[in-house]
Amino acid sequence: MSKSNHWSEYWKSGVQTSLPSDFKKNYDGEIYAFWEGRVDDLSSGDHVLDVCTGNGAVALIISEIALQQNKSIKITAIDISEINTEFIQKNVAQKVWSQIDFISHCPLADIAKHVDDKYQLVVSQYGLEYTDLNITAEVIFNLIQFGGELAFISHSVDSDVFKYMQTEQSIYQWLSDIGIISTLSDFIGARISANGLKNTLLSIVEKNQPPINFHGQTLLIHWQKMLTMLIKNNNHTIKNEKDNLKKFIEAHKAAKLRADDVVQVGQKLSDKKWNQEISSVGFRCLEDKPIIYQGTNVAGHSYRYIK
Ligand SMILES: C[S@@+](CC[C@H](N)C(=O)[O-])C[C@H]1O[C@@H](n2cnc3c(N)ncnc32)[C@H](O)[C@@H]1O
Repeated sequence: MSKSNHWSEYWKSGVQTSLPSDFKKNYDGEIYAFWEGRVDDLSSGDHVLDVCTGNGAVALIISEIALQQNKSIKITAIDISEINTEFIQKNVAQKVWSQIDFISHCPLADIAKHVDDKYQLVVSQYGLEYTDLNITAEVIFNLIQFGGELAFISHSVDSDVFKYMQTEQSIYQWLSDIGIISTLSDFIGARISANGLKNTLLSIVEKNQPPINFHGQTLLIHWQKMLTMLIKNNNHTIKNEKDNLKKFIEAHKAAKLRADDVVQVGQKLSDKKWNQEISSVGFRCLEDKPIIYQGTNVAGHSYRYIK
């Protein structure tokens, strides 16, 4: 599975944001307020580009605010992965999504193949840190009109998402190390029978207690339910579950790659100079500060640069 495919799998699952347990419908509070400030600065006729859009969260916020402010803004939203436009159209009012041109399978480095516009404002959220700024900082610079702005929110090294994802990564690794993933793959690939599956899983579960820091984690609970179902059901029922099990394992592999991606980004952000390329290509920094959500949680870091 490639880097973009695991994000495609994630967006296909029908989520609006990359932090669905905190922001189900869309980002709100201080994050919404940051984007509101950016739309305040726009005029009718301006073009906006949202890069690393995912399922379009920020593009949709900007579209909604522009409508409230009676501004006619052209919005383009791109992502390297497959944007789930079907989900967006079901989840969001038509007048909001219909103002946005979504472009899937568009790596930021290759964006010139997909768009030939110049933008007043380029935005991104939890996105630029996933790209190679040695390449993409200049790409963005070339997309912006003189006097235009790059505004983005990155993850923050202090945010809980990294601790959470690190624990998830350890759970994925543990499930693999104790042989659960390979046993399920053997059953899916018809290398062991339903009875063989049950006996092997039972023996693995009896021999391996999950480490204490995994207790109560949603991911582990999810797996425990699945394993209990497989061990307790009869062979006929388990055979009928094979297709579901295959999907479950595929989703598990995609989620593991996503956790790896996020943890790697956390390591990148721990270098305070992670975004120095942006200034190096000619942008001037206007804002560089943490976003404190509801006065307590660090939800990210906001940056504004002018060309
Ligand atoms: C954490 S998600 C953020 C999505 C959305 N902006 C949000 O705030 O919910 C990161 C997104 O960046 C995309 N991405 C990563 N590298 C990219 C690249 N080089 N070009 C375009 N998109 C990229 C991924 O496919 C993924 O959808």
